[in-house]
This record gives sequence, structure tokens and C-alpha cells, in this order.
Amino acid sequence: MLWQRLLLLLLVATACGATPSSNHSARYEESTLRILDVATERMRGIWDMRRRIFLQLTSKGKSPLGGQAPSKQEVETETYKLVYELAANLSVVPVEQLRDPLLRRRVQRLAKLQLQGLRPADYEQAKDLLRAMQNFISGSLVCTHDDCSARRPLAMYPQIYNQNMRSKSYDDLKLNWYSWRSAINDKDTAKSTFIDYVRLLRIAATYNGHVTPSRTWYLYYDTENFQAEMEEVIWEIMPLYREMHAYLRHSAMLAYPKANFKDDGAISAPVMDQMLSQAWYSHQIFRSPYPKDQLPSVHHRLEEVLVTPVKINKKATEFFESLGLNHMSDGFYERYSRRMNDDEGGPDCKSQVYYFPPDVALRYCPKLDYKKMMQIHGTMAELQYNIYKRELPFGLDTEPCPGFGAALGETAVLASGTPRHLHRLHILLNDSLTEHQSLNRLFRMGVHTLLAVPQYFINDKFLVDVMDGRIGVQDYNCAYWRLQDKYAGVQPPIWRSAKDFDLDYKFYRGMQPERSNTRKFITEILGFQFYRAFCLASGQYKPGDPSYPLHNCDFYDSKEAGALLREMMQLGATRHWRDIMHIATGERKLSGRGVLEYFAPLFTWLKERNMQLDIEPGWDADELCRKE
Ligand SMILES: *[C@@H]1O[C@H](CO)[C@@H](O)[C@H](O)[C@H]1NC(C)=O
Ligand SMILES: *[C@@H]1O[C@H](CO)[C@@H](O)[C@H](O)[C@H]1NC(C)=O
Ligand SMILES: *[C@@H]1O[C@H](CO)[C@@H](O)[C@H](O)[C@H]1NC(C)=O
Repeated sequence: MLWQRLLLLLLVATACGATPSSNHSARYEESTLRILDVATERMRGIWDMRRRIFLQLTSKGKSPLGGQAPSKQEVETETYKLVYELAANLSVVPVEQLRDPLLRRRVQRLAKLQLQGLRPADYEQAKDLLRAMQNFISGSLVCTHDDCSARRPLAMYPQIYNQNMRSKSYDDLKLNWYSWRSAINDKDTAKSTFIDYVRLLRIAATYNGHVTPSRTWYLYYDTENFQAEMEEVIWEIMPLYREMHAYLRHSAMLAYPKANFKDDGAISAPVMDQMLSQAWYSHQIFRSPYPKDQLPSVHHRLEEVLVTPVKINKKATEFFESLGLNHMSDGFYERYSRRMNDDEGGPDCKSQVYYFPPDVALRYCPKLDYKKMMQIHGTMAELQYNIYKRELPFGLDTEPCPGFGAALGETAVLASGTPRHLHRLHILLNDSLTEHQSLNRLFRMGVHTLLAVPQYFINDKFLVDVMDGRIGVQDYNCAYWRLQDKYAGVQPPIWRSAKDFDLDYKFYRGMQPERSNTRKFITEILGFQFYRAFCLASGQYKPGDPSYPLHNCDFYDSKEAGALLREMMQLGATRHWRDIMHIATGERKLSGRGVLEYFAPLFTWLKERNMQLDIEPGWDADELCRKE
């Protein structure tokens, strides 16, 4: 593609030289529109394939439109062919000559690609490598007790993950931690798979003309050195993280007295993983602030009140209707909202949204619990987003940057889980918790968010630093541990060396661009920024007023918040994400402010408690990785 562009530049230069006063804009616009129209027509064909897949999946195997529905694989191949060819065709358009800013933006967004910019053979290889890395996570590869003949090997996720979540033995955690890493990096498999994949990411970047490969990884964030902006957020929330870290380190010492953890050191990686897994687990191993003040159990009432998954869906739909967003018609529920089969959802049972304009569709997980109730609000947000986006021309009918849509959804997830909202649904008797319960709730949310965010950052930074050549092959493993030390206060459970390759399973999961650690990071941080903005707009968060704290804000029914949400959704990718976030937040940068204000009561509590316990936040870790 690069050579084509060079050739064109040459032609344009020659043309300009020959007739300096000629104005080519109109002609360029016309021919560009022709290319885009043809591509849109082909995209319609792909949407139609997706529609047929949806209908077939939901009609017990028979294709209601006759014939066999295409496979997901075919849709994927067709999409790749289309965007690849289109990018090549558009790369010869002189963008700066186009007058219409929307047209210019369409071309800019469609002319550069990430993995899909690779030539077919390389693209196939990238997909193979991604499959191999996913198999590190879900393949049955690990024999934890040496004896593989007696028991079937286990998969990291969900089997070992679930074991670790429940385990009360540090030795078992350590053994599992070690066994999985030895299994996947036997003969350097994990490391060499990763190296091959990075090579392809670099090739994709050269096609875009990016000298620094991470520019392509961060393509849609469209920012020089985006990593630095993320890092600023990490330092912004670090004081809170350090208090949380100190408190949890103390809890770990109580939970595993025999492990001899130090009260000024880093947290051992397997223990950190276990803490992260505890966010939704009801028999927590680590002490919550007030163990006697249990959170009210909502499960029973939830089943009584909401009865069926369909009713949960309708409640979530109603949340958005109350804000003044789209009404979902009965026709939608009849034709385009379908329940997944019980065996289909997998361990995570994630509801799925389909996009095939002019229609959108939903397949929902039939589980009925608090977590699903919250999650479905995120799914409904995505559905709403799709309804607005479908009005936009192909190429701009997406979120402005990866994670933006999920961040908007996150605001509804947060609101739907508040005591205030549960009270509205008649699930809780009171619209607020006692102070102690409230701290327990924030603590649980804090484990979920505050511990996870630095991990997303570390995984992302490691990848990008390797990609850009800031970390050399000999130093991969120890560099990884230095990042864990610096940003998270985590260390390996045993001595490690440059020969090991200790990345965690979430790292491999995040190699898929659509599930990247960058995206997760953005979703969390931007999600709290938007939540704060909607809560301020709706008057449900009044800084300084203890009756309206951010963590109990339910912006249900707020037309003010709804207007902001709708305006952002309607813009799709027609503008830079900073311009769009500015509409709601008045800010043009990522910031930790939402997180800090949300967790403010927890921060105060942790500082006092750590002082009482005479715990010093921060860590002074031994270096446990040898370069050799
Ligand atoms: C080309 O023509 C359009 C109007 O037809 C005008 O707005 C634009 O400024 C012209 N561009 C150049 C480079 O002359
Ligand atoms: C790209 O251009 C070629 C040659 O003009 C054309 O045959 C093809 O359909 C175009 N493809 C797309 C997706 O624009
Ligand atoms: C609701 O909570 C508030 C504050 O904790 C408390 O004063 C009030 O008595 C509670 N009401 C009921 C019905 O429990």
C-alpha cells in the first residue's frame, strides 16, 4: 500500500506542477464517494450474512430465509477482504484535497488498518498465533500435581482460575501459578509465539507508514505517545492504590500466616491474582472492612421481583427509555431479542449484541443474578449505541475509539448496582446502606477496579515497549517484573530468570485487538469519568452532600444525562474521541478524577485504618528476577 501512496503523491505533485491553479477537490470527492459507495454496498452484503446467522442461531437450526446460513468464518473472511481492498483503494486518495470534513474523516479511518492491514498470508498467521495464545488460556494443558495420567489436565480458565478463587492454601496457589507457566512455556512456546505475533504487529505498522509501531496499536486513539497519557492516570490514582495495596497486604499476612509475607514488601503474584478473582466471590478470603456488616443479600429478592431474564432485560431497556433514549418496540422483542441456549454462554455467559443495519439484535444470557442484572445494562447501552450509529455512513458508524462504547455502558452498570437503584426496583428496602455496609461495598468495587487498572496498564505497556523496541528479547521477563514492581507492587512468588516468561493469562487474552488491555483500561477510566459527568448533570451527585455521594448515584430518569448520552452516541466516529467526550465531561483527556471521587470514602477509611494498624503504604521489593 505504501508504494501506491508514493506513486500517487508523485502524480499529484506532477499534476500540480503542470497546472498550478487547477482545483481537483470536486473530482477527488466524486471519485472517493464512488469508492465508498461500492464498499458500502459490499458491507450491506456482509450485514445480510450476519442477519442470516442470527436468525439461524435462533430458529433451532433451520434457516428461515432458506438455504444454509454462512459461517462466522465466512463473514470474517469477507470483512477482511473488504477492509483490506478498501484501505488500498483509499490510500491513494489525497485526503488534504477533500473539502468535506466528514468525507475526509471517513477516508482517514478506513485507509489505515491494524492486523487487517496485513497481506493475506500474514493475516492468516496472525490469526493462528492468536488462536494459539487463546489456547494457553482455555486449553487443557496443566497438570498441577505432576501426575497427568491419573487426572485430565486442566485449563487456566475457568478451571484453575476457579480453584484459585476458592483455595485457602498458599502452596496450592503457588503451585498452580508455576505449573501453568511451565506448561505454556515448555520449549519457549509462549515466548516464541509472542515474538512472532509482535513481528506481525510491526509489519502492520510499516504498512501504515508508522515508524513507531505502537502508533498502529493505538491507531484509533490518534495521539502521539498515548501510553504517557495512560501513565498519568496511573500516577493520579496511585495514592489510593497504595493504601489499598497496604491494607490487602496486611490481609494476606492474616490469611496466609505461614507464607511469611513482609509488611513492607510487594504482594506475591499468585495472591494478587486471587484477590482480583474475589471481586464477585461471596466467601472472601481477604478481610473486608466490616466483616460483621454483611451486604444485604439481593439474590432472593431479585428472583422474586424480576422473575425471568426477559423481565430483567425489560428493566434495563426501561433504564434507557427513562433517559429519553430509544424505545424498544414489541416487534424488536419478537424478532430480534433471543435467549441463548443454556449450554451456549460458556463460563462467562456474555450477552451478545448484533449489528446488521437497519436492524440490531440481542442474544441474552438466561442467568438471573445481581452481576448479570448489572451487566445487561451495559449490553443495552451497546444496543442503543448501535441504533444511533446505524444512521451514519459506513466507516463512521463505530465508536470513536476502542472502549468508548463500553465506557458509556459502564455508567449504566454502575448506576444499576447502586442501593438507590435497587430500592427503586423494590429489591432493597432502603435507598442507602449503613456506613459500614457502604464501605464494604466500596471495598469490593475497589478490589474489582483499583487492582485491575494497573494490571491492564502493565500488560499494555509491556506489549508496547516490546513492540517499539524499548525492551530487548534478553530482558523480557525481568522487564515485566520491573513493571509489576513499579506500578503495582507485585513480585514473583519464587526466583525467576530471563529464561522464564511469566506474563499472566489476561495478557494473552488482551492480544486480541477487540479485547485489548488498552480497551479495558479506557473502559474503566473513561467509564468513571462519564459516570461522574452524568451524575453531576442529573443532580444525583452533589459534591459535599453526604446524601448524594457519587457511589450511590442513580441517574435513572434524568433527561439531562440522557441528552448527553444521546448526543455522544449519535456522533459515532464522526469526530475525534476527545471532542466527543468533551460534550459530557468538559474534559479532553483521560483522568482519574471519576475514580478518585467515587472511592473517596474508601480512601479516607483506608488511610485511617492503615494508620491504626501501623501499616506503611508503599513497598520495598526484593528483586527476584535474574538476568544471567
Ligand atoms: C477549490 O474550489 C472550492 C470551491 O469550488 C474552494 O472552496 C476551494 O478553496 C478551492 N481550493 C483550492 C485549493 O483552490
Ligand atoms: C478497489 O479497487 C478495485 C480496482 O478499481 C476494484 O475492483 C475494487 O472493487 C475496489 N474495492 C473496494 C473495496 O473498494
Ligand atoms: C434507611 O437508612 C437510613 C440511613 O442508614 C436509616 O436512618 C433509616 O432508618 C433506614 N430505613 C429503614 C426503613 O430501614
